[in-house]
Amino acid sequence: MSSQNVFIPTLDQAQTITAQYGSPVFVTDKQTIVDRVQTFKKSFSKQTKIFYAVKANFNPHVLSVLKEAGVDGIDTVSPYEIALAKQCGFAPTQIIFTGNASSDQELKEVMQHEVLCNIGSISELERFGRLFNGADVSLRLNPGVGDGENQNVITGGQDSKFGIIQRDMPIAKALLSKYNLQLKGIHCHIGSGFYETDVFAKAVYLILEQAATFANLDFIDFGGGFGVRYQRSKDPINLPSFGNAIVDMVKNFEARNGKPIEIRFEPGKYLVSEATCLLSSITTRKSTEEKDFVCIDTGFHHLIRPALYGSTHEIINLSKTVGKKERVTVVGNVCESTDVFADNIELIDPNEGDLVAILSAGAYGASMSSVYNLRPYAAEVIVDGDAIALTRAPQSFDLMFKGLGFTQL
Ligand code: LLP
Repeated sequence: MSSQNVFIPTLDQAQTITAQYGSPVFVTDKQTIVDRVQTFKKSFSKQTKIFYAVKANFNPHVLSVLKEAGVDGIDTVSPYEIALAKQCGFAPTQIIFTGNASSDQELKEVMQHEVLCNIGSISELERFGRLFNGADVSLRLNPGVGDGENQNVITGGQDSKFGIIQRDMPIAKALLSKYNLQLKGIHCHIGSGFYETDVFAKAVYLILEQAATFANLDFIDFGGGFGVRYQRSKDPINLPSFGNAIVDMVKNFEARNGKPIEIRFEPGKYLVSEATCLLSSITTRKSTEEKDFVCIDTGFHHLIRPALYGSTHEIINLSKTVGKKERVTVVGNVCESTDVFADNIELIDPNEGDLVAILSAGAYGASMSSVYNLRPYAAEVIVDGDAIALTRAPQSFDLMFKGLGFTQL
């Protein structure tokens, strides 16, 4: 299989899966994930390490595929993500914690896990120093530039809440020395879903300038954010050009530094998004004088990206390869008007009972799911050639209710 495919199951596969596990269901292709890890590794130099951003998809079976494929570590944002990474066999040194507005309690939990804290504000650094004098630490910087697939997922620049801005670096340095903190790494993450190298390269340059002012760093981490295709008509991101954009800058840094430095990335969506589709069934057709609706048996409780970010995931009617193309609006089954997957798209002869595939749903799909409307999480399966393995069971009412943790009436 090409390393650039967007995974779509065959109709046979889809029918077998839905007959066994019901609809809707997330279907992930193992080989696509393995291909992405390999492409990522090839695009950057050997000393580059991949710390997968587990927030994109925290299914332990997906983590296991990633581990087997060669990811070096895990980027986490909460103590429970750390616990999961450990459970999946990653050692504390293979995990980094990049918190946001972490409480003292949270920082303590992370330190109990013996995981490196990547701190993104002066206030947290001060509290961290008071609590853990002499500890190792990493700093998340805001390089002052950001990029991403839309405004909502940009995490650099003056409008962003993330990272320490250049103005505050003297304060950060003073705190490092006040509390005898050992700075192990410098980090940034400028946004999610970018395709072009220019802003990214600028961020790399600015971070390296900052890194050059510190001695004895173990690593520099440029975060994740590499874009994926929600539509197959879009060209895949040119990862080698990202590699090329940084190679000379890193070489210059190493020359100044007098020794090689470990470079880390934290891709999330790049590794998992295109490997998964959300399979769903058409339950209802209806129309107004303005719109022709195709209503399906999933909603923003399973894939919130269209409703939250206006993302346009390609949708295809798996059940029909020939037939009349119709212009339709695909909507979900949540009781909310914003539960729209795609407006004014073409589907081949969409009818009740047909199976549709919503593509590139492997990142921030299941991981951002909720039980709103008390609809269960979707089941998840991984396919590996002809083999189909259930990785998340359909959620019964009892299982859901137990998970909600309400006390006795
Ligand atoms: N590192 C850090 C510190 C991050 O905050 C993130 C994502 C990543 C790495 C991974 O970024 P990725 O490679 O997946 O773009 N829910 C949004 C994306 C939010 C990303 C948040 N941070 C979406 O569905 O587009």
